Amino acid sequence: MPISSIPVDQLNEQQAAQELARLSAEIIAHNTYYHTDDAPVVTDAEYDALKKRNLAIEQRFPSLKRADSPTDRVGGAVQDKFEKITHKVSMLSLDNAFSDEDVVDFTDRVRRFLKLPADTTLAFTAEPKIDGLSLALRYEKGKLVSAATRGDGSVGENVTANARTITDIPHVLHGDAPDVMEVRGEVYLSKEDFAELNRRQEAEGKQTYVNPRNTAAGSLRQLDSSITASRPLRFFAYAWGDTTALPATTQMGVVERFRDWGFVINPLMGRFETVDGLIRQYRLIEAERAGLAYDIDGVVYKVDDLALQARLGFVSRSPRWAIAHKFPAETATTVLEDIEIQVGRTGALSPVARLAPVTVGGVVVSNATLHNEDYIQGIGNDGQPIREGRDLRIGDTVTIYRAGDVIPKVMDVDLTKRAADSKAFVFPTECPKCASPATREINEKTGRMDSVRRCTGGLICPAQAVEKLKHFVSRNAFDIDGFGDKQAEAFYHSGLVKNPAEIFTLQARDNASELQKLKNREGWGDQSAAKLFDAIEARRVVDLHRFIFALGIRHVGEGNAKILARVYQSANGFVDAMKAIRVEDSDAWSDLVNIDGIGPTVAHALAEFFAEPHNAGIVDELLTYVKPRDVEQVAQDSAFSGKTIVFTGSLERMSRDEAKAMAERLGAKTAGSVSKKTDLVVCGPGAGSKRQKASDLGIEIIDEDEWFVRIAE
Ligand code: IVH
Repeated sequence: MPISSIPVDQLNEQQAAQELARLSAEIIAHNTYYHTDDAPVVTDAEYDALKKRNLAIEQRFPSLKRADSPTDRVGGAVQDKFEKITHKVSMLSLDNAFSDEDVVDFTDRVRRFLKLPADTTLAFTAEPKIDGLSLALRYEKGKLVSAATRGDGSVGENVTANARTITDIPHVLHGDAPDVMEVRGEVYLSKEDFAELNRRQEAEGKQTYVNPRNTAAGSLRQLDSSITASRPLRFFAYAWGDTTALPATTQMGVVERFRDWGFVINPLMGRFETVDGLIRQYRLIEAERAGLAYDIDGVVYKVDDLALQARLGFVSRSPRWAIAHKFPAETATTVLEDIEIQVGRTGALSPVARLAPVTVGGVVVSNATLHNEDYIQGIGNDGQPIREGRDLRIGDTVTIYRAGDVIPKVMDVDLTKRAADSKAFVFPTECPKCASPATREINEKTGRMDSVRRCTGGLICPAQAVEKLKHFVSRNAFDIDGFGDKQAEAFYHSGLVKNPAEIFTLQARDNASELQKLKNREGWGDQSAAKLFDAIEARRVVDLHRFIFALGIRHVGEGNAKILARVYQSANGFVDAMKAIRVEDSDAWSDLVNIDGIGPTVAHALAEFFAEPHNAGIVDELLTYVKPRDVEQVAQDSAFSGKTIVFTGSLERMSRDEAKAMAERLGAKTAGSVSKKTDLVVCGPGAGSKRQKASDLGIEIIDEDEWFVRIAE
């Protein structure tokens, strides 16, 4: 009898090993027929039988399980997690508009940036904002070669095998397409398919899914692509990334080509030449929303002309040429069961509402933000009453407000339901985690008390230390795989990692067995410990902006971290300058506040951080373990790379913002005032003292026309 016919419980060990080898090879082949070639040669039932037999043998002889076991794999390759794909063109997010006014502001902003005369028409597209997840599909010579999730915008996950199971995604483009064409769009699950999936789950006594969006995301990120294939995911194409040739000169034109190539595009997309037109389309889409087969959470407007899009460019993570006009949030009523105070990385005490669970717009909510002390009391950021001054108390019946992915918030209170013996909430004036005084600073700009109360414990506050550690390893900072919030908490509390520098000595200490070895700790094993050490090793080289952002300095978010990285270019350059800014009249200080986009608030925060010897010490120590990458000039070959340019006077052919963006694209920095470090001053009419100073210092001065001549060279 051939081995393949012997029942599993009668196989001896040698036969079992042979059988596992055969099954592995056979299943790999079927995966390829099915997913890659789109031509299965066995029925699903036959395929399942192979997998089942393989699994049964593995369960009987666990030691024989192969490294390439089909139990753990997708398509052809063994995977225990997804490979990474670096996006050639970053995948960005969109700014939001919440009102018609915001939309008018957006179109005005675009016009101002481009210096468009009032009588020039400016066309926009309007289309639904699909509530799914974005996916980038790369086609080479018309063939699908890879699919990547958005990830952190720069690096996503390779989900190619799974994307191939989605029927709306063509494996081969129809007609002529550029050599390289990366089509982007949204993967989603229809409302009906979601409901059907949940009916099935329920019938099988399994847990039901929360909403179509999360389910779509979970389905796309399955290591076993047969699971993805069993979920009816759909795809709308609406954007693009890397390409060798754009097939049209307008947004609308490109998307229409997507349709010709075989993609599904959204039928509610239109082109409009006035703000009124956009808002009419918004109202129309809003009216259709409930009847649409899929969830949407707003309408996206995009400048139609691609040449104008290129001029507009981006601000940090969002394009200047697009905006998402969100639908009004959804609300629900529930009971405020408790108010908990969390302590953040910079010591801010944030009140969080614990709620009796309630469904808001299809999602169960049991926590919501209460912003700050004043908000609970019924006082707004401007010191004026909100909710007509009604305060919020534990036990109150409250309205919850949830807009898309944003954290839900407590909006209002129903006083008719308030218990007679209820008491006003007393906000702590001591840190609940370290008992240090928690104070409210006076805001220098407004002269009013800051709405945020902060723990003054600084370095002695364990809550701040843990939050700093979480921030350090988070996705847009060091992004250490397998080192999330949970691990940060556990490592901190067990004394294993008290600060970011200690992350990088963990393995050496582990090897030296100074402490109980990680692999012997609860929740860890040989493999997971080794994996974590590998993940840490992999981050000994990071982008400079990630390093700066990871330090968790107040007011230094990703945007500012990128500006600082671009200006200082190396970790040592940055750290040396920051240590030198302690004196307000130092050159280092004026260099810093002179950077476009960095104001005194940020500069003070940086000075304060580096003036603290403990912080400076940790940074120095960190730099002995990690090597942030130097920032390369944006455009090495540009005559402007590394130069500092000042624009002054009233510019006529471009707005000041556009001038700045242009300079940055050429690898130059812009500054607000003229100093010895200025290389070039571009003067429009009416330039005064800056022009004078430049000429006194012997700095080259040109006019706007000359600027355009030079950048064209
Ligand atoms: S355009 C450069 N169009 O919204 C901007 N995005 O907040 C590219 N989204 O990550 C995006 N529907 O996942 C665009 N019609 C649409 C969209 C859309 C949904 C998502 C997308 C993106 C997020 C941005």
